[in-house]
Amino acid sequence: MSVPQSIGDTAPPPAHVAIIMDGNGRWAKARSLPRIAGHQRGARAVRSAVEAARELGIGYLTLYAFSSENWKRPETEINDLMGLLRLYLQRELADLHRSNVRMRFIGDTSLLPKDIQKLVESATATTSGNTGLNLIVALNYGGRNEILRAAQALAQKARDGEIEPADISVEKFAEQLDTAGIPDPDLMIRTSGEKRLSNFLLWQMAYAELVFLDTLWPDFTKDHLAAAVAEFQGRDRRFGATSA
Ligand code: FPP
Repeated sequence: MSVPQSIGDTAPPPAHVAIIMDGNGRWAKARSLPRIAGHQRGARAVRSAVEAARELGIGYLTLYAFSSENWKRPETEINDLMGLLRLYLQRELADLHRSNVRMRFIGDTSLLPKDIQKLVESATATTSGNTGLNLIVALNYGGRNEILRAAQALAQKARDGEIEPADISVEKFAEQLDTAGIPDPDLMIRTSGEKRLSNFLLWQMAYAELVFLDTLWPDFTKDHLAAAVAEFQGRDRRFGATSA
């Protein structure tokens, strides 16, 4: 299915879309399948989302693949999710690279299995010169933890005499985050009917438009992304100011 280059003729598409891919477990349960089946279909939906983002001219796509709270899940499910990530990074890298996609990762990846850390490093390095879609995968990511790590890094710099606490600005703080150099999300989509941020990009989403879809993530298609982008384009973004 092809997606139009842009929908509507006024507002540009969002430069950065962030997605909370929720509902894999419910998708599987509704079919009496094991949860991993939902995650497997979820990985397929990731492919559609990436293709659609490229077709729609979106510059940055961030996907919440594994949160710092997901370690609370049963060990078998954690292993299944790590297995899927491993497969995705092994199998998709060549295609993504060919498609000029630049891959980046946010979150504390140092706690991931060593071989996945290697795949993360290799995907980052291999695609670092690409100029197409920026695909950012959040792994062992938690917004509060990211903000805390940034605060610790700045406190250390202040203690070392490298910066004055009073000189810490919004921009300087943002430079310490995992997303340094990446524009804030304009649009956040969460699937499955849940209406929460779940510790995702807390600093960065200060002015993001939020779109909540009832669709479960494994059923997410290119058309869902196009429809969410169209809804975004119809919104009046004021960033605290009055309408024009
Ligand atoms: C939420 O559904 C989904 C996750 C915690 C994992 C998301 C992972 C994937 C989509 C697959 C791998 C990702 C990549 C980038 C290849 P849930 O299990 O919380 O669903 P539920 O709320 O219905 O139980």
